[in-house]
Amino acid sequence: MNSKTVLITGGASGIGLAMVKKFAAEGCQVYFIDTNHVEGTKVQAEISEKGLQATFLEGSITDYSQLENLIHSIPGKIDTLINNAGVSHIGKVENTSEEDFDRLFQVNVKGMFNCIKACLPKLKENGGGSILNMCSVAATIGIPDRFAYSMTKGAALSMTLSVARDYVADGIRCNCLSPGRVHTPFVDGFLAKSYPGQEAEMFAKLAASQPIGRMGTPEEIAEMAFFISSDAGSFITGSNFNIDGGFMGLKM
Ligand SMILES: NC(=O)c1ccc[n+]([C@@H]2O[C@H](COP(=O)([O-])OP(=O)(O)OC[C@H]3O[C@@H](n4cnc5c(N)ncnc54)[C@H](O)[C@@H]3O)[C@@H](O)[C@H]2O)c1
Repeated sequence: MNSKTVLITGGASGIGLAMVKKFAAEGCQVYFIDTNHVEGTKVQAEISEKGLQATFLEGSITDYSQLENLIHSIPGKIDTLINNAGVSHIGKVENTSEEDFDRLFQVNVKGMFNCIKACLPKLKENGGGSILNMCSVAATIGIPDRFAYSMTKGAALSMTLSVARDYVADGIRCNCLSPGRVHTPFVDGFLAKSYPGQEAEMFAKLAASQPIGRMGTPEEIAEMAFFISSDAGSFITGSNFNIDGGFMGLKM
């Protein structure tokens, strides 16, 4: 991956941040898009202090014309796109508002579509490359109280398969990762919002729902993302990988 150009969305926090660090440490030219000005600027400075390269592109993946301008600002080709930015919501159909539904769809589905569409010219210019989408175990199993979130991750899975099929002849591979619970600000945020005062108890419960007995780490997901995106993963396309401490495969 040395000197390859990698674009990561949602790189200012959690799994995306671990990916930015991993790909930069491996010598890639990393660009990351995020809405979080403070964290994005901080991450860019921290990586640069280590003598590595990661450029923060501030903006939202939901705004196609802004996104297209950001992607045009990347010099030359793109080898790898990682669609990682995502937002969550807790609730069943009855306590999901129309606004919640639209917000999740805009970021997790349309944002992914926008990034793929805007990056395709640069991936083709490169003669091929890799697209990796962040999906979730929630795409293929019913998880309580995750209606809108699961719906968007189901869409991310089918988008992955469709894109993999349509661009295989262009040398573009497209895959997705389906993590179980990974300890990131995403998890801390929804525990604080949904279970105020019971965060520690709920954290332990969520950790225990993985047969391996804990949540994943962002770094574990970044390692898998790196393998799939690199030439070592060159035979992999149209695949969804669970990375979930046994959540999907083992009986509790
Ligand atoms: N943490 C988990 O347990 C878990 C499990 C399965 C899948 N995932 C998926 O992994 C991905 C990353 O999750 P995380 O836990 O690291 O989340 P996180 O909340 O820690 O980080 C998400 C990042 O995306 C950015 N972002 C949000 N909306 C954006 C937008 N419109 N445009 C640009 N950037 C935007 C945020 O600012 C943030 O920096 C998500 O797609 C999530 O659904 C997470």
